[in-house]
Parts: sequence; C-alpha cells; structure tokens
Amino acid sequence: MWKLTKVAAVAAALAAAVAAHAGEVEVLHYWTSGGEAKSAAELKKMMQAKGHTWRDFAVAGGGGDSAMTVLKSRVISGNPPSAAQVKGPAIQEWASEGVLGNMDALAKSEKWDEALPKVVADVMKYKGNYVAAPVNVHRVNWIWASSDALKKAGVAAMPKTWDEFFAAADKLKAAGLIPVAHGGQNWQDFTTFESVVLGVGGPKFYQDALVKLDDKALTSDTMKKSLETFRRIKTYTDPGAPGRDWNLATAMLIQGKAGFQLMGDWAKGEFIAAGKAPGKDFMCAAAPGTANAFTFNVDSFILFKLKDAAAQKAQSDLASAIMSPGFQEVFNLNKGSIPVRAGQSMDKFDDCAKASAKDFADTAKSGGLVPSVAHGMAIAPATEGAIKDAVSQFWNDDKVSVADAMKKIATAAKTK
Ligand code: BGC
Repeated sequence: MWKLTKVAAVAAALAAAVAAHAGEVEVLHYWTSGGEAKSAAELKKMMQAKGHTWRDFAVAGGGGDSAMTVLKSRVISGNPPSAAQVKGPAIQEWASEGVLGNMDALAKSEKWDEALPKVVADVMKYKGNYVAAPVNVHRVNWIWASSDALKKAGVAAMPKTWDEFFAAADKLKAAGLIPVAHGGQNWQDFTTFESVVLGVGGPKFYQDALVKLDDKALTSDTMKKSLETFRRIKTYTDPGAPGRDWNLATAMLIQGKAGFQLMGDWAKGEFIAAGKAPGKDFMCAAAPGTANAFTFNVDSFILFKLKDAAAQKAQSDLASAIMSPGFQEVFNLNKGSIPVRAGQSMDKFDDCAKASAKDFADTAKSGGLVPSVAHGMAIAPATEGAIKDAVSQFWNDDKVSVADAMKKIATAAKTK
C-alpha cells in the first residue's frame, strides 16, 4: 500500500512539474489534406505528450496563400499565434517586422548549426539569429504515375524526357484516360512550369531565369521552348482542372482515372494515406529532363515573440520537437518529404524518399540543387506572386501568345 502511495505522490509531483511549465501552442498551418493532416497530427501528439495544449489553427488551401492572408491580419491585430508555417525569403520579411522571437539559446544547446545543411540554416536565421525551425525537405520536380493507368495504356516506363512524356501522354489519351491530372491554383501551374523550365533549360538556366530573374534568360529561346512545352502539357489535362485542389488531382491517379501528375512529394503523402505502395500502385520519377537536378522546398515554422512565460516554454518545446530525430522520421514518413537533419537514417523510408535523399546530397555537390520558386523558396513574395500570375494567365488563356507571355513574365520579374 505504502508503495502505491509513494508512486501516486511521485506521479502527482511529476504532473505538477509538467503543469508548472504547461502552456499552449497555437500553430498556424495549411496541412489539411489526408496525408498532410496525418503528418500534422504527429506534432500535436508530441506536444500533448509534453503536457502542452495544442490549439490547431489550420487554414485550408494548398500552397498556403489563404493561410498567409489570415496570418497577416492576426499579427497586425497584435495577436500572433506561437508558430506559423512560413518558409524561404518570407521568413526574412517577417523577421524584419520585428515580430519574431530569438531561438538561439535552444539552437545552441541542441547544436542546430551542426544538424542542418548550411543552405537550410541560413534561411532559418535573420541577422545570424535563429527565428524559425525546419521540418523537412520536399522535392518539387517529381512526376507521379498511376500503375493501373500506365498498364492500361501500354506505357512501359516512366518518361525520362519531354518527348517520351508526350508519347506516353498520347497513349494514355488513346486508352480513354486523362493523361495529366492538374488542378486550378496558380501555384499548381507554377509547380509544373518550373519543372518544365528545369527540364528544358537545366539548372543553370533555371537559376538565371527564375531565381536571378535575368532579363536575357527570361526572353531567350530556351524560355520560348519552355513556354511551348508547358502549353502543350495543358492539352493533356481535362476540362475539370480549373479550380481543382492538388490532392483531388492526386486522387485521380489513385483511382486510376489519370496517368500522370507533376507535383511535389506531398503527393506521395496522399498515396500513402490511401494505403497505396510506391513502385507497385504508383510510380515516382524525376520530372522529365530533371534527373540531375533537385528543386527544394523546406517547410518551416516561424516563431513569434511571446510575452507569457508558459507560452514561451511551450513554443521552445515545439521548436525542440520539430528538430528532434524522432519527429523528423515519423513526420516525413507521412508527409512524403525527407528529414532535414543531416545524417538521419533513411532505413524506414521507401525508394522514392531514398532517391530524394541521395539526389539532395548529390545535387548539392554538382550544382543541380535549386530553390523552388513555386513554393516560396527563391524570390521575394511580391515578385513571386506577379510572375505566378503571368504564367497562369498564359496557361489559362490560349489567346495569350508565347511572345506576349515572355514579355509579361519579364515585366513581372521587375516587381518589387
Ligand atoms: C508545402 C507543403 C504542402 C503543399 C500543398 C507546399 O507549398 O510546402 O507542405 O503540403 O504546399 O499544400
């Protein structure tokens, strides 16, 4: 009996210790599709295990445009959440407003500088101080395929070039299938567009045109060829594409109705959540012509300055959980991405993820590693928005000529 009392006393003391530090984390994110929600739930579980309360601030909308609008209004009204899913140069913009906290003490004690590739660590810092924590590395330049659809159409292998892609797309069409599942937001158009630019022009051209926004590259013959290829892809999409969410496009592959989707590896999260197996039910390959390149997209959370001590502790525990090897593994197994920590074991991951990890390391050495523009990793948000609109206008309106589109994109690139 005395033993039980003692156990109960210890448990009560422990609970009190947890409670003394227990706080609330309000986390803004846009992970609302099947695979995304399963991944986000892992973070919630970890925070709850540490005794904190998780307040879910999910704003639906792939790519996060709606979430960013909501976040701005919350911060302007002086009531920021603890953390928000923000990435790339937008991190610097938020930090320059003076609203983010300094996570250096935690980063130092957990050796984040050693755990993260420098290209990632630099993006997480503002003026040398950590203001954000990264969760993963998504690869954007993927092409996904439905094994059933390919089999029905007699397509034997994943296309390695754009010519092979169009030949396969013709076979899918002839078999009465939708060759390309596409959706209807400008970030989906640009996800396809940047893979085409990378495949047609290679990594150096991609950097010049879409990252450095060099006028000569933007108005070059290679850009012309990219736009022509991009427009040709549209002829293989179905009339239901406008307005469609990306995960519903993935569902068309899962159901065997469509052959291909050009999308980042969050699409794999959807296949996995639907119980499908890579290499069997669905296939992954680098987008045509991009085998030696890697467009990276690192999801991360910016951490806001908070006043309340318990909330600060909860926020620090959140950042620590995000960076922990255990979380990096379980989250990324669900999300379709790979861990961002260097040297993390890939044993439990599938072949698509293993290929991604290898290509991430190889392209970092070869120069083929480039930031995704479609996913906010490369250029200032205002410029990115203007270019995306010009590209989507071209995609949506067949009356806009390639020459006009080139001019419009080059003009949009000057937006500050
Ligand atoms: C994000 C992913 C997300 C996808 C669709 C991308 O920009 O990086 O985490 O799954 O958008 O919403």
